[in-house]
Amino acid sequence: MPPDGANEREYPWEVRDADADALRSAMSHFPTGVTVVTSGREERVEGMTANAVISVSLDPLLFLVSVHKDARLNPRIREEGSFTVNLLADDQEGLSRLFASPERSSGLQALHSLGGGYGSTGAPLAAGALAAIDCELAEIYAGGDHDLFLGRVVQVRLGDTRKGPLIFHEGGYPALKAAPRPEESGAFVDSVRGFDARLNRLRDRRRR
Ligand SMILES: Cc1cc2nc3c(=O)[nH]c(=O)nc-3n(C[C@H](O)[C@H](O)[C@H](O)COP(=O)(O)O)c2cc1C
Repeated sequence: MPPDGANEREYPWEVRDADADALRSAMSHFPTGVTVVTSGREERVEGMTANAVISVSLDPLLFLVSVHKDARLNPRIREEGSFTVNLLADDQEGLSRLFASPERSSGLQALHSLGGGYGSTGAPLAAGALAAIDCELAEIYAGGDHDLFLGRVVQVRLGDTRKGPLIFHEGGYPALKAAPRPEESGAFVDSVRGFDARLNRLRDRRRR
């Protein structure tokens, strides 16, 4: 609903032609977490900062990352058949900037910058990340100038989850403001209830 019951037509939209700038501009107002997606071992290590990632399915466990066709990571995931999604913490802005830079190193130097050794599929881990999700490549879908890599989740690692997440919003990395705790916010509890109910149904099905 538009504010103050105003007629929809009076809502002050700035209508733009559907072009890359307009979509980028709209999406800049959509805050996301930040990940570094990695693949390959030793000299073959590649890593890339990515926020176009989705936890797709819980049964089976499927995870999706969208990688530009020209990105160095793209052929590496195809060759290795696996990737790891490192969920960055709020003290890892430097890592995000490094792995978004076209001048960054690959190979052993990239492995050293990530600093966490290898995950179960052989893709590098980022030390200090909130979590790392190891995937085996299941499908590749064409998505315009990007490819969508769908992975079967084979291992989930939780890191120091006392830290907050790194956030990307309006082209920068703002600090997350403290929010009311879930139990103090009725609206939030209502919104997660549906999700919890679905998770519980899934657990019940597994127990049977
Ligand atoms: C916060 C953030 C999120 C990004 N998300 C993606 C993404 O999801 N997919 C993608 O292909 N590039 C993404 N990029 C851009 C790549 O990190 C960047 O273009 C990188 O240099 C591409 O790799 P290349 O140097 O091998 O071409 C993102 C960059 C930033 C800063």
